[in-house]
Amino acid sequence: MRILKVMNSLMKRQFFFVICSLIMGGFTILCNVGLLSTSAVLISRAALHPDVLDLMVLIVGVRFFGIFRGVFRYFERILSHDATFRILSSIRQWFYKNFNENYSEKRKFKTGDIYTKIVTDVDKLREFYLRGLYPLIIAILTGVATGLFIASFSINLAWTYGIGYILTGFILPILIYKLNNNFLEEERKLNKSINLMLLDSLKGIIEINIYPLKNEFAEEFNYLSKRLTHIQKKKNLINIFGTNLNSLMGTILMGLALIIAAPLVINGELEGIYYAMLPLTVIASLEALIPMNMVMYKFKETYESGENIFAVIESSHINNSNEFEKIQNYDLSVKNLSIYDNDTDAFIINNLSFELPYKKKVAIVGVSGSGKSTILKALLGFIKYREGEILIGGEYYKNMSIDDIREAFTAIEQNPYVFNTTIKENLLIAKKEASESEILSLLDKFEILDLIKNNEKGLDTLLGQFGYNISGGEKQRLMLVRALLKPSEILLLDEPTSNLDIELEEKIVKAIHEEIHNKSCIWVTHRLVQMDKFHEIIVLDKGQVMERGTHKELIDNKGMYYKLWNLQNDYLHL
Ligand SMILES: Nc1ncnc2c1ncn2[C@@H]1O[C@H](COP(=O)(O)OP(=O)(O)OP(=O)(O)O)[C@@H](O)[C@H]1O
Ligand SMILES: [Mg+2]
Repeated sequence: MRILKVMNSLMKRQFFFVICSLIMGGFTILCNVGLLSTSAVLISRAALHPDVLDLMVLIVGVRFFGIFRGVFRYFERILSHDATFRILSSIRQWFYKNFNENYSEKRKFKTGDIYTKIVTDVDKLREFYLRGLYPLIIAILTGVATGLFIASFSINLAWTYGIGYILTGFILPILIYKLNNNFLEEERKLNKSINLMLLDSLKGIIEINIYPLKNEFAEEFNYLSKRLTHIQKKKNLINIFGTNLNSLMGTILMGLALIIAAPLVINGELEGIYYAMLPLTVIASLEALIPMNMVMYKFKETYESGENIFAVIESSHINNSNEFEKIQNYDLSVKNLSIYDNDTDAFIINNLSFELPYKKKVAIVGVSGSGKSTILKALLGFIKYREGEILIGGEYYKNMSIDDIREAFTAIEQNPYVFNTTIKENLLIAKKEASESEILSLLDKFEILDLIKNNEKGLDTLLGQFGYNISGGEKQRLMLVRALLKPSEILLLDEPTSNLDIELEEKIVKAIHEEIHNKSCIWVTHRLVQMDKFHEIIVLDKGQVMERGTHKELIDNKGMYYKLWNLQNDYLHL
């Protein structure tokens, strides 16, 4: 379990608390054993009417164990929970650091799926120590200590106790777990489907109502809920059966202790006052086995959560050592880059090479699905590539820190994300120290200042979830302002003007070129606007370069680009 390596290394800092809580946990159970056994001896001895002074030690013993059981339990709870939450907090920090640095796009994951992983899987890890490992260690320690204690009275009883203890605490829980396993698997799948469905129905509320999907959703939801209830009933039945079997085993063991110890008392090998003590010792020690039913689940859960977490943060090409090369300059170079679909092994980008010297501009054009956005994501380190290299300033990506790489770029995604906060806060994420006048002048340049002026809250206007409060074109222009605020040297634009009308698009494209004349730029576009401004245009089809050159060269070539150009012009002149 590779997650355990991580957790153990994070736990080292909490080692003291963990050891203390284990010791306290062990002592709690032993106090319980001590309480019941001294009580048994006390009652047995009292029955013989001894001098009250003879009972003093036992009375003190009963009081001692009674009081200290509570004290140890209290400290065990405080220390173990404290350590657990400290570990959880370290795991969360470790996860977010790795998630941000090593996240590479997993095309088969749904967003909701990743969200569930981040929230629930990380949380589940906290239970590993509290409900998995600690109870196991305490159960083993208690079993050994009680076994040795019983052995000092009767070896036969110690053996019987040992076998019964292992059967109740270890074999039975494994059997119950195996019985439950199939149901657990199905329960997990159903829970996941219900969560994803809920998320879908919230995000797609408009579509669900436009296309008459309401009934289908409700029916499917009902079916899944019923199935889940059915599975949970069965699971609970098995668990109740397991718990009762556990109690039954305790009673059987107690009976066996009485049967085995009786001849010893008759033969005079065991003093009569200890006769009641042995079965009570046995039953008291079984307290340590109560949490054992959960241990297997916790181990499995931890393994699965660990794998889920690694599936999200598995590094792509990223250097995990701490020795990074610094960025020397901003010449970008892509050499023989190939990106494959992990599931089908078909290529998405095939053997792509191009150079982007600092301050030059490259356009990537091509039909939908030809791999344009994929190239930009690979440059930003969000997509794994199996073959080829990307270099920045002559240095390989794999030798650089992903943070340094991403700092060199500013980008607009094809579907950029707007945070559910104000315009100002959405823009300031690009440059914290940007002044209001700098922001306003860019907003003016990108024809979006009116939006701020017409709103009484100005820059403090809320954008709403996914930017619902503004139009698609306004959102694009805001995103342009955000991207250009970031003081990075290479700009990646993925169809940044696709939602604008033709007239506005001309203006905005011109404004972008003015703003970026001192930066490098890769611009993905369907619309061929002001293409003579690019030093190179790469024409992509199905992940392969079909043509490349300047606008003039490609027009003269009369190839694919020329066809696209003519199609667009014919369409515009219709
Ligand atoms: N999330 C995804 N899951 C699976 N396959 C994907 C995903 N995103 C893209 N692809 C596939 O990768 C290929 C390239 O996609 P990409 O998004 O790079 O195309 P594009 O050229 O940007 O298209 P468009 O012009 O429509 O934006 C396509 O065949 C597409 O189906
Ligand atoms: Mg795209």
